[in-house]
Amino acid sequence: SPFEPFQRDLPLPPLAKPVRASKKLEEYVIDMKPGTADILPGLQTPVLGYNGLFPGPTIRARRGRAVHVTQRNQSGRSLNVHLHGGVTEPQFDGHPHDAIPTGAERLYKYPNVAHSATLWYHDHAHGETAQTLFAGLAGFYILDDPDDKHLDLPQGDYDVPLMITDRSFNQDGSFRYRFDLDRGFRGDTILVNGAVAPRMKVERRLYRLRFLNASNARAYTLKLGNGREMIQIGSDGGLLPAPVRRKEIPMEPAERVDVIVDFRQFGVGSKVILHNEGGEPSTDAVMRFDVVRATGSEDAKIPQLLREEEELPEVNAERSWPLTFQGLAGGASMWQIGGGGFNEMRIDCRPRLGSTELWTWRNLSQRTHPMHMHGYHFRVVSVNGKPPHPGDRGWKDTVAVYPNETVVVRPYFDYFGGLYVFHCHAAEHGDMSMMGQMEVVA
Ligand code: C2O
Ligand code: CU
Repeated sequence: SPFEPFQRDLPLPPLAKPVRASKKLEEYVIDMKPGTADILPGLQTPVLGYNGLFPGPTIRARRGRAVHVTQRNQSGRSLNVHLHGGVTEPQFDGHPHDAIPTGAERLYKYPNVAHSATLWYHDHAHGETAQTLFAGLAGFYILDDPDDKHLDLPQGDYDVPLMITDRSFNQDGSFRYRFDLDRGFRGDTILVNGAVAPRMKVERRLYRLRFLNASNARAYTLKLGNGREMIQIGSDGGLLPAPVRRKEIPMEPAERVDVIVDFRQFGVGSKVILHNEGGEPSTDAVMRFDVVRATGSEDAKIPQLLREEEELPEVNAERSWPLTFQGLAGGASMWQIGGGGFNEMRIDCRPRLGSTELWTWRNLSQRTHPMHMHGYHFRVVSVNGKPPHPGDRGWKDTVAVYPNETVVVRPYFDYFGGLYVFHCHAAEHGDMSMMGQMEVVA
């Protein structure tokens, strides 16, 4: 590895502080601007971040209380903010035509009407998301629900957001971006919350770890070094119906996985490495947990039932989307959905508000596409005709479609109607027009 792992303690992104707060509403102001990050010893890394930070400040929201964020663009370039996994009216969703010119600001209103979940906000500059995400414009948005209280899940210091990204560096410490049209960016160094494969002191107790893959295009397979299990309790759209024990957890870009790790199974002094199974030697180590001492709550348990599965309205339409690679001939459109690249006039479908549909992603290419839908969540119905892994049976907003695979999902067009995009979340693919558009109508 170009850099030694486990040299630094895990940093936590700061909590964003509201400028005003009431029972019904919290208001934030965030400046999107250049800053520097302490990533490599003795060097400063220029970033573009929310409040100049990489990762950006964490917004902690509560279901039933709205959040308004005024995003001020002081970056020198045009930007666009998307709350990934958020249920918002279309004008607050970061649609390609809603860019914020440099020097301007935009107010985003998030109603927080959906289930508790680990969301994140990131830049969505049209055709330039690979650059702006890479530069550092990403932060956590954690939506809590007071109704989850009875589950007694780990909270406070024991509820830890972990943003995984990959980067490469120039000699002077700046990020090095090398463009790969086909695979997207792949760095040689793994960062968690902006630190090179850090270590984290943990007590002998239960922890809730909220993993987010905020990388441009790299997938991870998370695995504890000694083959012990992690207990998955959540995915993109929040809590699973029931916990799922897993030894390996694959994560494509933009996916979130919430797990409980029971550190009571390790002795004080244990050092437990979290690996990226199948990574290159330099991208194998994600982070390390150093078990330091015992505390109370020795008998804490993980609930066996997390969330009731709700009944869905009937399927109203079925649609099929081939995912293809088109080569360079005649235009810039290389990655396509449904035989074409993105343009703003394109409306691929008009789902009815309040309905569900069956969407079939057919990957006819040799690359994985993490397919993401704005505005709504979906259930994964089948993967190559078989039921999905239990860890993928909750609400999702991004699903991996591996080469030559067919994945059927069932989106639920609840809450708000309007114009929303759906796209591949390998940032370079999305930028190369692998994006479609739907208009959800009443
Ligand atoms: Cu996380 Cu349209 O993106
Ligand atoms: Cu893709």
